[in-house]
Amino acid sequence: MWEQHVDMAVKHFLSISEQSAEDLRKILNLALRLKRKGYPAGSPLRKKVVAMIFQKPSTRTRVSIQSAIARLGGESLYLGYSELQLGRGETVLDTGRVLARYVDAIVARVFKHDDLLELARNGRIPVINALSDRHHPLQALADVMTIWEKARNLRSVKVAYVGDGSNVAISLLQICAKLGVNISLAIPEGYRPDKAILREAGEWAEKNKSTLEIYDDPVKAVEEADFVYTDVFVSMGSEEEREKRLSVFLPKYQVNAGLLSKAKKNAYFMHCMPMHLGEEVTPEVAYSTASLIYEQAENRMHTFAALALHLLAK
Ligand code: CP
Repeated sequence: MWEQHVDMAVKHFLSISEQSAEDLRKILNLALRLKRKGYPAGSPLRKKVVAMIFQKPSTRTRVSIQSAIARLGGESLYLGYSELQLGRGETVLDTGRVLARYVDAIVARVFKHDDLLELARNGRIPVINALSDRHHPLQALADVMTIWEKARNLRSVKVAYVGDGSNVAISLLQICAKLGVNISLAIPEGYRPDKAILREAGEWAEKNKSTLEIYDDPVKAVEEADFVYTDVFVSMGSEEEREKRLSVFLPKYQVNAGLLSKAKKNAYFMHCMPMHLGEEVTPEVAYSTASLIYEQAENRMHTFAALALHLLAK
């Protein structure tokens, strides 16, 4: 486990699993307040500098983070991977330790989650996961905030996730189980999260008296669901598996009007974006009045602002 390798005295945000339910609720409450009442005057992140290392492209994550930091009076430095000595072979460990002498936090989007663990060995400053092969915890914060805005009581709703057991699915599953949100998954065998992740999430759900169900059949998963969520079938980095993946997921796991009609009446549709229209979701659903995609995207900024205040503000 990563806890053996990083300095636990520094608070990181690498996955949902190492966050307490209390901290998650605190961050979400703060994000809701920022959205409702506006960002605080007085620049609470004044003189705070955040370095952002991105190995992969991004629209929502990059811009929401930079906007949130700017609105709180801080500075962000966007560092393209190939422009750093990292791109020429300097170690991740040295990069983290050097950056920790200049800045107050590192945000990183990486191919390998282990690189985040290595950055977290800097011993001084928080590292925030902006997406790795295993987790997308910033997305999960925005997703649950969006659900909370619609549902008011998180414990009374059911979220159905349909499709690939991606990093987005794992973080959504973990945050739902930690906060007592009922969740069902429809993911084919071979594409499900690791057994250890499912077991751990099952224990959290049991403790919270919420449900975690896993199906092969999407129709069963969306029964009585208030929210139906999907992600792309072919993520960044798995393009060479495209044909195989599409043959596994299509047409069964596509969220279309027919599948959405099997959920509760007035159920909402959710997607982390970007979408592959016509694959995991049809345009008819994605752009329907049931769709929360732009609310989720907006909430990426408010949840990051709340997280930054939680980790960095005095
Ligand atoms: N959802 C998400 O992480 O979007 P980006 O890849 O645009 O950052």
